[in-house]
Order: sequence, then structure tokens, then C-alpha cells
Amino acid sequence: MKNKLIVANWKANKNIEEAQQWAEEFMTAEKRNNRHYVVCPPYPLIPFLLDITEHDIDLGVQDISPFGAGAYTGEVAPFNLQLLGIKYAIVGHSERRRYFQETSNTTAQKVTQALDFDITPIVCVDRDQIEEQAQLLSAEERSQVIVAYEPIHAISTFGGHQDPIDLTLKAIAQIRSAFGENTTVLYGGSVDPDSSIIYLNEDSIDGVLVGNASLEADKFSKL
Ligand code: PGA
Repeated sequence: MKNKLIVANWKANKNIEEAQQWAEEFMTAEKRNNRHYVVCPPYPLIPFLLDITEHDIDLGVQDISPFGAGAYTGEVAPFNLQLLGIKYAIVGHSERRRYFQETSNTTAQKVTQALDFDITPIVCVDRDQIEEQAQLLSAEERSQVIVAYEPIHAISTFGGHQDPIDLTLKAIAQIRSAFGENTTVLYGGSVDPDSSIIYLNEDSIDGVLVGNASLEADKFSKL
């Protein structure tokens, strides 16, 4: 069986002290088999986490600049992440779309930037963004991204109402027909160790994107 990808999105949570405690707990926790864990912390915690985990945990970022290196005040470009060993970048998250007015166009620009620096984009889409987002990427880009299906009403901060599994599976089939049959597809929205079972038991779901439940190392290691 292919390893399931379990991605933590810490959002703007945790300071250095809390991150250290989390990492110590996570590294000693008993993990489930057939899992590949990835943590996406706030940017300033990245070097610190790489250091204390001795590069033992794969790290990603929660967002990335749609531009290259240069005069873009406040942005972090993939170029800036070179040599740190960052493997993934979440792009198009619904909080970015809602609070920062990001569009599928901006998300597509971010995909291009990330792939140029060998960072795998995790492209978040709700049901009504699937076709539009896929069409804004080239065929080559579509074949290289991971897609996270996150219905906005399922995200804990936006209500936490999970989709029934049959609707989720329909959306996931729609994603594969838009992005490609071999696309790695994750589910996200109020996933915790109990609710994850129904999703992770499905062959067509390659993993989960986890916000709230990723903040406790103990819970995250049980996913
Ligand atoms: P949640 O967040 O698990 O807290 O619902 C998921 C996400 O926002 O990616």
C-alpha cells in the first residue's frame, strides 16, 4: 500500500518554545505505519525546527510568493527557501482566498514559482474551484502538483461541517479528471484521529491536510 501523506498546517500558531515542545513530543511519539508526515509551520520557525529535528521531519510552507526573488516587500519567494530543504508549499488555501483576496490566477502563479525551485505545490481547492484552477495550470504543472480537496464549510474555523464521504469521493474523482488520473489527492477539513479513518480507508484518498488537530503532537502522530 502507498504511504498516506499526512500534512500539518499550523497556520499562524506556535512560538519557538511551543514548537520545540511539539517537535520533542512528535519525535518520540509512536507513529502509525504507512504514513509520511509533513509539517508546515510559520516561516520564522523553519530553521529552528530543521535544526532540532536534525532534518528528520519533512517541512513545507503555508504559502509562497507568486513572484520570483526581487523587490516584493513582505513576500517569501521560493528562491529564498533554496538550500533549506523545503519540499512542499501549500497554495490557494481558502483562508488565503478569503482573507487575502487570492484568486485561482494568483494560485497558478505560485504553482509556477514553486515548481521552478523543485518545491511540490499542494493546491487547495473547494468543489467550485476544481475546473477553473486546473485550467489555469499547464499540463506539465498539473502532472506535478498535489491537490487538497477542502470544502470551505468543513474547515474548523469556517464551521467544521464535514462532507458526507460520497460527496467527497465525487469531488475527488472530479479532481482527477481535471488534473490527471495519477494526481495525489488529499482531503482536508476538521480531520482528527477519529474522523480521519473514514477518509484514509479510501484507496482514492492519498492523505489528509490537517489544521487544528496538527497542533497537538500526540493527536497528529495518531493520524
Ligand atoms: P482544520 O484546518 O483541520 O482545522 O479544519 C484544515 C485546513 O485549514 O487546512
